[in-house]
Amino acid sequence: MNDFIFHNPDKVYFGKGQMKNLPQELLNFGKKVLLVYGGGSIKKNGLYDEIVSLAKSADIKLFELSGVEPNPRHTTVNKGAAVCKTEGIDVILAAGGGSTIGCAKGIAAAALTDNGDVWPLVLGGVWVTKALPVVAILTNAATGSEMDAWAVISNMNTNEKIGLGGSALIPKAAFENPEYSYSLPPYQTACGAFDIFNHVLDNYYFAGDATFDMLLEMQEAVMRTVVKWTPVAMKEPQNYEARANLMWASSMALNTILDGGTVHGCACHMMEHELSAYYDITHGHGLAILTPRWLSYISDESTAPSIYRLGKKVFGVEEGLSAAKGAERAIKAVSEFCFETLGLKSTLTDLHIDNKHFREMAEHACQGGSISGIRCRTAQDIEKIYEMCL
Ligand code: NZQ
Ligand code: ZN
Repeated sequence: MNDFIFHNPDKVYFGKGQMKNLPQELLNFGKKVLLVYGGGSIKKNGLYDEIVSLAKSADIKLFELSGVEPNPRHTTVNKGAAVCKTEGIDVILAAGGGSTIGCAKGIAAAALTDNGDVWPLVLGGVWVTKALPVVAILTNAATGSEMDAWAVISNMNTNEKIGLGGSALIPKAAFENPEYSYSLPPYQTACGAFDIFNHVLDNYYFAGDATFDMLLEMQEAVMRTVVKWTPVAMKEPQNYEARANLMWASSMALNTILDGGTVHGCACHMMEHELSAYYDITHGHGLAILTPRWLSYISDESTAPSIYRLGKKVFGVEEGLSAAKGAERAIKAVSEFCFETLGLKSTLTDLHIDNKHFREMAEHACQGGSISGIRCRTAQDIEKIYEMCL
C-alpha cells in the first residue's frame, strides 16, 4: 500500500429534495451565473424549468450556454469563456452529463486566462489551480466528473481528445437527484454504467504490488453495483433504487476514494479516448468493446489470479478452477455483461471503424512513450488490442 493524500472538497447534495439548496450554493460565489447544458435533455425532463425558477426566487441572474456536444469541443468551451469575460460571471452551473460538466470546467479554467482559449492549457498539460467556481447538477451516472478534478475536451480539427486536470476544477458542490436520470435512454444508461465499471477496473488491476485489500473489496462492491442495477435501470427507467445506486457509484468510482494507496492506471481509457477523438463514438461503448480484449491481452500467469478474483467477486464465477481457467471465465462474464446484458454492439466494425488509423491512434495514446500498466504498455500492444476489437 502506497502513501496517499485524500482531499475532495466537493459538497454533494444527494436525493430528491436537495435542489432547494442550489441558490445558496450559487450565491456563495455571486449573483451572475452561467448555466451550461447540452442538447436539450434538461428542457424535456423539467430540470431547466426548476433551475430557472430557483434562480428567479433568489434574484440570481442566469446567462446561458447551450448545445454542449457529447465529447465537448474546445470551441464550445471557448464560447463559454468569452461569455464569462464579457459578463463578469461569478460561478458556472453545469446541468447534464460528463460532457456538460467537463465543458463547464474547461470554461472555468479558460475564463481566467488572458486569451480565453482552453486549448493551450489542455495541450500544455497544465494542472489548473485557478478557475471560476463550478457547481454541477448531474443527470447521467457515468463519468464521475461531478466529483473529480478532470475535464475531457475534444479538438475535432486535430483528432485530439485530452484530459485537463486541476484541483481548481473539482466542483464546489454537486447535486445528484437520481430522478433526473429517469429520462436516460437504455443505450446511454448502459454506456454510462460501463464507464463507471471501467473507472474501477482501470485501477483495480494496476494496483500491482501496492494491492490494498480493503480497497479491492470496495472496488468490487462498486463493480457489483453496476452489474446488479444497470439491467434494472434499463428495463425500469424510473426505478429510484437502481438510478440512485448507479449515480452514487459514478461519484465513488472516480472521486479518488477508491485509488488512494494503489497505483493508478488507465490503459482502457487511454485507448478509448483515441477512438472517440477519431470517430466521435460514445465513450462507454468504446470502453465496453475494448475491456474484454484488453483483459485477454494482459492475461498471463502473473495476472490470471487477479482476473479470476474479479470473476468470482463480481460475477459469481465458481471457486476451485485453475487461475487460467478462472481468468478465461471472468473475461467471458465481462463480455456477456457488455454485449448480452447491456446489449451493446461488440466490435469496432459494428461501429463502422476499420484499422485505417490504428497505428497513429496507438502512438498518440502513448504520447510518444508508453502507458502505465501490465503488459499493455507500448503502441504495438495497443495496436494489437485495437485489431482484436474488429
Ligand atoms: O446533451 P443532452 O441533451 O443533455 O443529452 C445527453 C447526451 O446526448 C444525454 N443525456 C444526459 N443526461 C440525460 C440525457 N438524456 C436524457 N436524460 C438525461 N437525464 O446523454 C448524451 C450523452 O451525454 P454525455 O454528457 O456526453 O455523457 P457522459 O456523462 O457519459 O459524458 C461523456 C463525456 O465525458 C468524458 C467522456 O470521454 C465523454 O467525452 N469523460 C469525462 C471524465 C471526467 N471528467 O473525469 C472521465 C471519463 O472517463 C470520460 O472520459
Ligand atoms: Zn470514463
